[in-house]
Amino acid sequence: MSQLYGVALTGTGSCLPARVVTNDEFAEALNLDTSDEWIRTRTGIRERRFAGVGETSATLGAAAARHALAAAGLAPDAIDLIVCATVTPDLMCPSNACLIQAELGCRHVPAFDVSAACSGFLYALSVATQFVRTGAARHALVVGAEVLTRAMDVTDRNSCILFGDGAGAVVLSATPVLNVGVRNLRLYSDGSRQELIQVPSRVTPVPPPGPPMLQRLDYLRMSGREVYRFAVTRLVELIQQAEVDCREMGLAGPDVLIPHQVNQRIIDAALEDAGFPKDRVVVNLDRYGNTSAASVPVALDEALRTGRCRPGDTVLLVAFGGGLTWSSAIVTL
Ligand SMILES: CC(C)(COP(=O)(O)OP(=O)(O)OC[C@H]1O[C@@H](n2cnc3c(N)ncnc32)[C@H](O)[C@@H]1OP(=O)(O)O)[C@@H](O)C(=O)NCCC(=O)NCCS
Repeated sequence: MSQLYGVALTGTGSCLPARVVTNDEFAEALNLDTSDEWIRTRTGIRERRFAGVGETSATLGAAAARHALAAAGLAPDAIDLIVCATVTPDLMCPSNACLIQAELGCRHVPAFDVSAACSGFLYALSVATQFVRTGAARHALVVGAEVLTRAMDVTDRNSCILFGDGAGAVVLSATPVLNVGVRNLRLYSDGSRQELIQVPSRVTPVPPPGPPMLQRLDYLRMSGREVYRFAVTRLVELIQQAEVDCREMGLAGPDVLIPHQVNQRIIDAALEDAGFPKDRVVVNLDRYGNTSAASVPVALDEALRTGRCRPGDTVLLVAFGGGLTWSSAIVTL
């Protein structure tokens, strides 16, 4: 067998749109039957960011990628692979990854998108890890970027209050040291529960009734309570499995947990069931809401930049969402 490499995380970056939308804005500007108090107590979210004119998942992703490259001390031409996780790409074709390749001025390297909803970043991380582990890429860029606010039905108070826009990115680099960086990955899916969260696309098997263009097809639809139960159950399982995986690798356990930033109540319920200490969990959903594929890399970048986690720490990244999909990664920084 040819040589395998360690997959070190050498840089992180993020980019959030400047426009802050508070809970009160939903009730006032959007004339929605809700309140700041309801949203805060049921979700933990206080505000989120909305992409502005000219901002898309590709532009936010490219900006996050630039920060990650700077943190890694690499020029764009050092990158051998670009994988972007998104369910809100600028275009059906070409991929966001290609738009980011052009925007950054990377070489003519493989660039493609991965679609796994809120698990997307960890799915993309897994793909890039295989390239770096086997020596097919020396440095890989992994981006999670979304503008889900463009796909939300602002008349649906169950779902529109939950989401925000943003992008996060990491650089993975090959190293001869095997026990650093991405140590373990677990990815799962259950398509039989696809109807629980859907963003219908314009390329749909059933044409919409009525004249074209009058019927919007691409609003996010979600069964909130069922998704809530799914999220708590899978989050508990993933944390408990990761503790076993850590022990098998000779680690005491994850030092820090960075869960998908979904809902404070979901996170709290899972922590209690799994017996994981709350003070070792990174949460920023109060400021950004649920940014889908961007949520984990944005939280990781902030945690590193604020010293919430440090080089040497073993971090557990956990995500779950549409598909249904769920996933985890154990990463030693
Ligand atoms: C959507 C969610 C916040 C709703 O919270 P909940 O505590 O489960 O609330 P319920 O669905 O039980 O609804 C309770 C009541 O609040 C109402 N309600 C829902 N959204 C509301 C809002 N924004 N403001 C005020 N009232 C609201 C409901 O209509 C319902 O009213 P009713 O009792 O008169 O029918 C919650 O289920 C959730 O977070 N689910 C997971 C969704 C998610 O994270 N999806 C992405 C996964 S990646």
